[in-house]
Amino acid sequence: MNKIEASGLTVRYRDGNGVFTALEDVSFVVGNGEFVCIIGSSGCGKSTLLGVLGGLRRPDAGKASIDGKKITGPGPDRSMVFQHYSLFPWMTARNNVAFGIKQVRKNLSRGERLDRAGIFLDRVGLLNFQNKYPGQLSGGMRQRVAIARSLAMDTEILLMDEPFGAVDAKNRTILQELLLKLWEGGEDDVVYPPGESSRSRERKTVVFVTHDIDEAVLMADRIIMMSDSPGKICREISVPFERPRNRAALIQAPEYTRLRSELLALFFNDFGSAI
Ligand SMILES: Nc1ncnc2c1ncn2[C@@H]1O[C@H](COP(=O)(O)OP(=O)(O)OP(=O)(O)O)[C@@H](O)[C@H]1O
Ligand SMILES: [Mg+2]
Repeated sequence: MNKIEASGLTVRYRDGNGVFTALEDVSFVVGNGEFVCIIGSSGCGKSTLLGVLGGLRRPDAGKASIDGKKITGPGPDRSMVFQHYSLFPWMTARNNVAFGIKQVRKNLSRGERLDRAGIFLDRVGLLNFQNKYPGQLSGGMRQRVAIARSLAMDTEILLMDEPFGAVDAKNRTILQELLLKLWEGGEDDVVYPPGESSRSRERKTVVFVTHDIDEAVLMADRIIMMSDSPGKICREISVPFERPRNRAALIQAPEYTRLRSELLALFFNDFGSAI
């Protein structure tokens, strides 16, 4: 069953220079529990598309829906990691995460929200920084707080806009694996607070924007490739590798090299044609 459906999405921006079509007639579906990566060159409309799915931007034409219901605004079924981390500067890292949890888990007490926030900050390696304000953290650290917030919210749908773009290589590897484990439902003690289990849960539906082809092949069930001017979907490619995926084994597989080359060729062809 489809969790997300987009049909004929068109988004235009209007400014002093006139009207700019950022997305044109974009249609796709994301299955329930599917992990989809969106790849495309800078400016092709990836963030715009995520904004529509997040309910932050109304399309000028077309429709996006979740579970068959039209998206009219943000909802407790979705959490977003923005490309440019968005934290409240007047709240500590821990309070930022706890605030996100409060938006979707009204049943938890303040103490429970703060405990859960601490656990997820620990998961992203920031327990020692939990009482710092965003202004006291580096860019990559702020992004990790935003990721912790999104994961701690435990929503059915994760919308992630280049979540690891500003994160250093070591932490990126750790976070990729954390996200995959959380999505795959593996090792409860690693990804969930004590007493919580992923076993009875349905897999989350993930829409994940990245520029990194290796990251997309590691994470995705399917890759949606976009072209620009105006932004459209040019290809959808299934990623055939079994789960759980093992990074080291994957890069040895001939099929990995073939798929990677195909994606690179598509990516650079499109980029070349736009120059
Ligand atoms: N508020 C706005 N007003 C006018 N044009 C905009 C606005 N926001 C985005 N655009 C334009 O829409 C296009 C798509 O922007 P968007 O941010 O969605 O791209 P993107 O694919 O996320 O790029 P990147 O990979 O660099 O993040 C770009 O050409 C951008 O200049
Ligand atoms: Mg963007």
